[in-house]
Amino acid sequence: MEKDQNRVSLDPSRIPNHIAIIMDGNGRWAKKRHLPRVAGHKEGMNTVKKVAIAASDLGVKVLTLYAFSTENWKRPQKEVSYLMQLPIRFFKTFVPDLVKHNVKVMVMGDTSQLPEGTQKAVKDAINDTADCDGMILNFALNYGGRDEIVRAVKAIASEVESGKLSSQDVSGTVISQHLMTAPLGRLADPDLLIRTSGEMRLSNFLLWQIAYSEFVFTDELWPDFDGQSLEKAIIQFQQRHRRFGGLINK
Ligand code: IPE
Ligand code: IPE
Ligand code: MG
Repeated sequence: MEKDQNRVSLDPSRIPNHIAIIMDGNGRWAKKRHLPRVAGHKEGMNTVKKVAIAASDLGVKVLTLYAFSTENWKRPQKEVSYLMQLPIRFFKTFVPDLVKHNVKVMVMGDTSQLPEGTQKAVKDAINDTADCDGMILNFALNYGGRDEIVRAVKAIASEVESGKLSSQDVSGTVISQHLMTAPLGRLADPDLLIRTSGEMRLSNFLLWQIAYSEFVFTDELWPDFDGQSLEKAIIQFQQRHRRFGGLINK
């Protein structure tokens, strides 16, 4: 069925509420052009702008973008410091557009480990868009799914230790409430997860929240991805039958 996706059009009444994207392939995009890897990251930043506006225009409620993982520190120092500067450039040039589109910025991950200038850019973007109540643009920055679960378990354990919570009351809901996506409430779990660049793995992204997400993998490299690619992924999503373990009522 998915082969026919070009002939099927997007149903504007069934847009996924929460889309999460593993933005991958910047380095390969640059390499193909005989450019340094960081040129791919720069172009990838422009893609973030285009895709964020496209998602907001389509009526997506939350767009979560994997920007830097807890494992990405393993890269050469020069690349890491370029990636750390990117949010500064991104927010400086893009916050007015975000405000114009009523987009609210959120960030999840251990931001305390980011350079001071990056932390400030992130805080300013969150403050400057605090009154927006349209789409939430949620950046995963120094984020790792296992790190997130470890932190949640620690927090829950200390609540049990102090008597605030009984171990018998630990539930899926309690765990969700201690994850970094907790502020998203009922929108915390992505409906659709997209990964670009042809890789088919999670790379430590949203391990708990994707339990019932639909996955779309595309060979396009992140800098080549655009609003039309997003629409194609949504069309694929709309052709799926989500069952959540049950049966489809016919
Ligand atoms: C994704 O592109 C961006 C980050 C992980 C920060 P990559 O830098 O991973 O690009 P490839 O996978 O090497 O092509
Ligand atoms: C995942 O991409 C992290 C981000 C997109 C930020 P990677 O390129 O780091 O993942 P691996 O190393 O190929 O699994
Ligand atoms: Mg990669």
